[in-house]
Amino acid sequence: MTAASREILGRFIVLEGGDGAGTTTQLRLIGEALTRAGAAHWITSEPTANPEGLLIRRILSGELAREPGTLARLFAADRNEHLRGDGGILDRIGRGETVVCDRYVLSSLAYQGVACGMALPAELNSGFPLPELLIYFDLPPEQSLGRLGDRERLDIFEELSFQERVRSAYLEALALLSSSGMRILRIDASRSVAEVSRDILGAIGETLGLSLGDDVR
Ligand code: TMP
Repeated sequence: MTAASREILGRFIVLEGGDGAGTTTQLRLIGEALTRAGAAHWITSEPTANPEGLLIRRILSGELAREPGTLARLFAADRNEHLRGDGGILDRIGRGETVVCDRYVLSSLAYQGVACGMALPAELNSGFPLPELLIYFDLPPEQSLGRLGDRERLDIFEELSFQERVRSAYLEALALLSSSGMRILRIDASRSVAEVSRDILGAIGETLGLSLGDDVR
């Protein structure tokens, strides 16, 4: 499927970026802003907390060793259930909610693109609709990995040379999808939480036709 023929899902917003880029903090702030604006919404993330996602977490932590192609297929299976399963993304959007998701198709194109080549994740993800707005948190990996702090154990992907390749793969995948009709906002995530939040809430407000304050706490 060419980028231009991909389905775009209205009221679906996705945050993407390397590990430690700050999407989790911003996801919380977006949820708070949508609540203040009285907009029905669902804040969610991938990998999910469904059984497929929990299995993925065991592989990411290194507890379970699996071949990269297996992991690529598990991410696609987790995504399919998240999107099409009962109470999933399509259901919520169908009920009029805005869905904001931390990681989606682009994560597979970038991470699995590096781990096992772009062809497999591109094929596995070709049938998933794209979000109306994709926000890419751009941050040099030396900075983003520094933000992960002194966690005792890092996931298998949280390593500098891998993250550098992931960043290049993200930029390549974003270029490929630039003609898809999805709005792409690339933000400089090295700035303060408040500055990043102002840009993001502005873009989401524009997309949804809402005024979202940037009341960062
Ligand atoms: P998190 O740290 O944002 O919770 O994400 C878990 C890890 O999973 C992160 O290193 C990115 C990786 N990942 C993929 O490799 N492919 C995917 O499709 C998704 C959603 C995440």
